[in-house]
Parts: sequence; structure tokens; C-alpha cells
Amino acid sequence: MTAPGMLPRQAAAAVAQALKAAGCPDAVYDARFLVQLVTGQDPRLSDAPLTGVQTARLNELAARRAAREPLQYLCGCWPFFDFELVVGPGVLCPRADTEIVAEAAAALLQGTTDPRVLDLCAGTGCLGLGVKRLCPSVQLTALEKSPDALVYLRQNAAHALDGRGLAAPYAQVVQGDLFEFYKELPESSFDLIVSNPPYLTAQEMTQLQPEVAHEPAMALAAGPDGLDFYRAIAAHYQQALRPGGALVLEIGWQQREVVTTLLQQNGWTRIECRQDYAGLDRCITARRPG
Ligand SMILES: C[S@@+](CC[C@H](N)C(=O)[O-])C[C@H]1O[C@@H](n2cnc3c(N)ncnc32)[C@H](O)[C@@H]1O
Repeated sequence: MTAPGMLPRQAAAAVAQALKAAGCPDAVYDARFLVQLVTGQDPRLSDAPLTGVQTARLNELAARRAAREPLQYLCGCWPFFDFELVVGPGVLCPRADTEIVAEAAAALLQGTTDPRVLDLCAGTGCLGLGVKRLCPSVQLTALEKSPDALVYLRQNAAHALDGRGLAAPYAQVVQGDLFEFYKELPESSFDLIVSNPPYLTAQEMTQLQPEVAHEPAMALAAGPDGLDFYRAIAAHYQQALRPGGALVLEIGWQQREVVTTLLQQNGWTRIECRQDYAGLDRCITARRPG
């Protein structure tokens, strides 16, 4: 694909051509990104010919991207707000839309002293760590079941917010199962619970985009109707909040009505919905009565 001695812009053009042929949607952007990743230079601005080592690395990354592996996995880290998260195969890539959910949670914590926050289904930890970035006094607990995801979560809990005057670790990481964990939580343990749980239906799991198919099924699949996790949270996690405490959920863009109904049926109050950057329903907030 590329050869030693090529100029960065030539290498980027060759990689872009290969990625286009593989059906990658943003081939030119991705090609420039990969050349910059291996050379440390923007290929549009650099005239330093590629070395043999750089070429070998670039060809390996380009082949993985042509196989539709997410760019985030190739990079090994990805930004969320203004901090970086370690990411890779075995964990869901952080999405920009999840920043909306973190902002909604932080807004609900205004006026609460040293708020205790639980992030259920934490993955990389982006959501809970995002809330802590916006509201530094948060005492964060992050629950995750997958041993693969926990490797990234532990690193991010230890380092993601370095250099911001906060004390590490930034979250207490707990390995556990959302469908069991509530049983060990004393009444009123938290001021806020936030979660971006798996929420795809069995049908949606058969129609994944190639990049999403590289992400762990465990991070995506939520039973026949996509609601297994919302059902459990709505039914079992109210007691873990103090009276008046808040629940903040990321949802799929078509799930507003059904998740709202689930919450109403389980006695949650003040249920509201927020939209993402594309104007789609993305976040539901609710309160424990009190
Ligand atoms: C949609 S991903 C979200 C990850 C992260 N919160 C984010 O926004 O990027 C859902 C996460 O739930 C985890 N998970 C799946 N089943 C679980 C369970 N029963 N208990 C706890 N976590 C679970 C998955 O491993 C995955 O990391």
C-alpha cells in the first residue's frame, strides 16, 4: 500500500484509495489521521519521507481500518470533553452524544455538596468521568461487568483527569452485574445515578454497521426489545438514591416513549427528555420522589 521514501501526502493518498475501495465512509480523513498517527506530522504540512518502520506501521493500521475496525481502536485513545480516554478492542468507543448525558447529570448536581454518583455500565468510564470533569467534587463509583472493559476503565479511573488538580483515583471501580448490584446497595447511597446501558434490540443486533460490529456485543445487546437494562434500572435502583435523587439515562433515539412509560410505571417523577447535537432524543432524566 505504502513504501519507504514516500512523502506523507503520497502515503495519505494511497491509504485513502485503499480505504475508499474498502467502503470506509470518511476515507480521506481517516487516511490523514493514520499518517499523522505514525509520523506525528500533518501529512499536508510535512515533506519528511516515511521511514521503513513508519511504513510498516502505517500499512498494518490501514489494513485494520480497511477491515472496518474503528479508528478509535487503532488510535488507542480518544477525546471526551477535554480529556483523553484509553480505548481499544473489548470496550465501547466513547461517543460525542454521551457528552450531552454528562452535561444533563452535572446540571442536576448544582447545589449538592460532594455529590455521590454511580455510573452503571461504565465501559471506558466516559460518562461518569465526564460528570466529574464538569463537577469536580463528585465522588464517583463506576460499575462494569466485562473483564475486557474493566482493563480500560481501571486505567481511565486512575489517569484520565490527571493534571486538573483532582485527587486520583477519579472513580472507585467495581466489577459487578447491574442485575444483581442493587441488592448490596444501602438505601440512599447516591445523589445521582447515570447510565448508558446496552440498548439495542435483537433485530438491530443483526444489522450493525461494520465498525459497530467490532465493538463488544455485550456493550450493545439488551434483549429482544432492547429494554432489559432500562427495565432493571427502573425497577431496582430507586432505593439506592436519596429521596429527590436523580436518574440520568442515555437512550436510543426511538426509545423516549417506552423508557418514559417504564419509569412512570415504577414510580419515578419529573421525567424529562433532552436531545443530542443532531436533535434526536438522547437522554432521559427522572427523580426519586421525595
Ligand atoms: C453501551 S456500553 C456504555 C459504556 C459507557 N458507559 C459509554 O457511554 O461509553 C454498555 C456497557 O455495559 C456493560 N455491561 C453489559 N452488561 C452489564 C451488566 N449486566 N452489568 C454491568 N455492566 C454491563 C458493557 O460491558 C458495556 O461496557
